Amino acid sequence: MTQDELKALVGQAALQYVKPGDIVGVGTGSTVNKFIDALATMRAQVAGTVSSSEASTSRLRALGIPVLQASEVEELAVYIDGADEIDAKGYMIKGGGAALTREKIVAAQSRRFICIADESKLVRTLGGFPLPVEVIPMAVARLQRQFARMGGQARVRLKDGVPLVTDNGQHILDVTGIQIHDPLAFESEVNQWPGVVTVGVFAHQKAQVCLLGSASGVQTLTF
Ligand code: 5RP
Repeated sequence: MTQDELKALVGQAALQYVKPGDIVGVGTGSTVNKFIDALATMRAQVAGTVSSSEASTSRLRALGIPVLQASEVEELAVYIDGADEIDAKGYMIKGGGAALTREKIVAAQSRRFICIADESKLVRTLGGFPLPVEVIPMAVARLQRQFARMGGQARVRLKDGVPLVTDNGQHILDVTGIQIHDPLAFESEVNQWPGVVTVGVFAHQKAQVCLLGSASGVQTLTF
């Protein structure tokens, strides 16, 4: 099975967590795009969605699925999103699609986080994937030095040769060379560095369930 087929498999499987009348939190990325396509088949049954990016909002609206503002909704039953890495406790690295800040906000608003991923995303220790960190541009050089003191190398993410600008008007640092052995402590520490908007470790907003796609089908991990 191709990676694309595995993503479609878990995107479809995530529908079991959507109940009629729910407002659904929707993440960002190629796996979530498969979930959005699947959700379109039950669009008449959902009360709406709260989206984590302009890209997902466009795709939802193009398929006739209503998108509400996060501020219009107090609590979401469920949040469905992908991950760049997930460990055996449901802690994740996210932000490969640069949507980490809004993803964390919508996840925090939701009762349950259902992660959808192919089996290549399951790791023993977080940190193999370059850690995305959304930052205020004026803090970039200072934050690069701060990550260097931890043994990491932080590079500004580029798009078409210039710094990528997120949906929130900020930049992304991708940090390599750091193994994250205590995700809760790491997230708390980096998040309070001046200039950091959001660090892409999702430990305080971890997944409760991961639907992991492999050639033998969908495996359900619960944390
Ligand atoms: C976007 C994310 C994505 O969930 C993550 O990058 C996984 O993406 P994909 O499903 O395309 O592999 O965090 O900011």
